[in-house]
Amino acid sequence: MTASLPEYSEAIVVRAPGKVNLALCVGGVEPDGYHNLSTIFQAVSLFDDIEVSPNVGGGISLSISGEGQDVVPTDHTNLAWRAAELIARHAGVIPDVDIAITKGIPVAGGMAGGSADAAGVLVACNQLWGLNLSREVLNHLAAQLGSDVPFCLHGGTALGLGRGDQLTSVLARGSFHWVFALALGGLPTPSVFSKLDELRADRVIPEPRVPDAILTALSSGDPDALAGAMTNDLQAAAIALRPDLKSVLTAGQDAGAIAGLVSGSGPTCAFLARDHSHALDIAVALTSSGVCRTVRTAQGPVQGARVISA
Ligand code: C5P
Repeated sequence: MTASLPEYSEAIVVRAPGKVNLALCVGGVEPDGYHNLSTIFQAVSLFDDIEVSPNVGGGISLSISGEGQDVVPTDHTNLAWRAAELIARHAGVIPDVDIAITKGIPVAGGMAGGSADAAGVLVACNQLWGLNLSREVLNHLAAQLGSDVPFCLHGGTALGLGRGDQLTSVLARGSFHWVFALALGGLPTPSVFSKLDELRADRVIPEPRVPDAILTALSSGDPDALAGAMTNDLQAAAIALRPDLKSVLTAGQDAGAIAGLVSGSGPTCAFLARDHSHALDIAVALTSSGVCRTVRTAQGPVQGARVISA
């Protein structure tokens, strides 16, 4: 049964971070079509702001502004819309909400932008409707929406197993400084996983396991050690689909980054810097190289989706 709730009239604004995978080790494809992962996520300071407000009797409406606003759907196919439907169904309420998203995370860029929006809607509706759902319940709903949604709730630095949705916090000392090269256009995640399957069709795929060196590097807070340990099994597949990414990675290296890799399924490329001023130098050099659409600096880890105003 669904019922209208007492009206919590104020808009709730949630800020949700994008992510980079510091290690992304991909196992074989499972019967359900998903791949077993062992991955280290880090939440970084590129954010989407998700404002949810009551829309009494009006159902769900969605508007998008900011980064990539013209290519993001504003109907029920958007994961944020589906998040509102899911949490409403779970709680037995009518999803009468306006959702307004201001995007700072690149769209279809391998940084979990859509997942961040879904995580933001779960947190915002939980508060707007006074549901008091536990973290555990929100995580359970998040995992039904997509593999990266639980991490966008969790934030920080975490090991992800299974589809990437079984999370354990990882100790990371201090902050790491990143430069992100944003590409023109996106890469659909399923195509990148399929390409990887094709590239290694004749190989036996071992159980995925992130290198121990990455955990040591994170706990020491040493960017040079982290640089030596970062890895992404999806990178070869992303480059096979987008050969232009090779020149982006080379430009980042030439700009002085201590490491560079494709972020998640791409096409965003992530470069590690020693500190903030080094990140700015790399950003300037990458911008003038002309190999990418635009460049952003960020740091991680940052918190997961959280209410910033109510
Ligand atoms: O879970 P999500 O909907 O974000 O995943 C998008 C697509 O990425 C899946 O449909 C699947 O093709 C691929 N994927 C995968 N293995 C994972 C996570 C995602 O193959 N562990």
